[in-house]
Amino acid sequence: MQIKNFREKKIKHASNDLKYYKMNLNLLKIDFKEFCRKYSINYKMALKIGIKKSKKLVIKYRNDELDGNLSKNECEDLYKLVKDPWGCSKLIRHKIFSEIIFEQKSKYKLNLKRILILGGGVGGEFHYLKDIFPNAEFFITDISKEALKNLKKKLELVEAKLYSVKFVELDIFSEKILSNFLSQYSNFDLIVASGVFRYGKDYKTRYNSANFIFNNILNYNGIFSVIEVRQDPKHDSPYVLTRIEPFYDNKMQTKNRVNPTHFILYQKKQSEKIEVTKNDNRITERN
Ligand SMILES: C[S@@+](CC[C@H](N)C(=O)[O-])C[C@H]1O[C@@H](n2cnc3c(N)ncnc32)[C@H](O)[C@@H]1O
Repeated sequence: MQIKNFREKKIKHASNDLKYYKMNLNLLKIDFKEFCRKYSINYKMALKIGIKKSKKLVIKYRNDELDGNLSKNECEDLYKLVKDPWGCSKLIRHKIFSEIIFEQKSKYKLNLKRILILGGGVGGEFHYLKDIFPNAEFFITDISKEALKNLKKKLELVEAKLYSVKFVELDIFSEKILSNFLSQYSNFDLIVASGVFRYGKDYKTRYNSANFIFNNILNYNGIFSVIEVRQDPKHDSPYVLTRIEPFYDNKMQTKNRVNPTHFILYQKKQSEKIEVTKNDNRITERN
């Protein structure tokens, strides 16, 4: 409880993602240029992409209709139009997660040397994890090349010189791409997926991806962590591995989100490799 109070005090100051809920879509109908100016959307880029296409994407994005419904191209365009589309650069959930992982690492003497961040976007996870694991080898991945390019540019100034960090384009819902990634970069001790499984088009897509990652990419004794803000029950369950009991499971209400953020850690023990069966009807969703 003490930890929670401490966290809530900190949360008061993290107001950056409130903007997300304050958009006035009526403005968009009147003057798109003005709308872009008001909400820091790159209008010149919108002209390049095409106004019709950009408007459609911005509406989808501002109406919160991306869960289960976001293509790679849209993701690239979104990162071109908005610097930090999800306001994720230094979210309080990344700080809370780094505290959780620090507690677990110390408690269970976990050796977490190779860290894979999935959907790492603007680098929020890395920002906090690098202080806890200064000697780890970090792989920041995302489906968006544009996001990685911008992040690399930002980190090159300081962090990339102090830490071991690689940037790799990776779509977590493509088994082929995951297999290629595995053969090139091998296994990891800590895998972090924060706010990314929700973009899988359906439950099975998310399940198959999580299974592949857990079975093949995670090392034994490694930790696979899933973090989701619970706001759309159809897409945002953090229980992506339905056959395994999480080793850590906690929900926290942060001041800057309407719904709680859910933190799940799965640990891979020797006996816990699960069969990947694509058309397995026994799979049931858990919320
Ligand atoms: C809501 S943001 C979360 C960013 C960051 N993980 C965080 O928690 O602050 C979702 C991120 O997932 C990425 N993404 C969306 N679909 C993806 C996919 N299929 N594979 C990998 N990344 C994906 C997006 O480009 C975006 O950077």
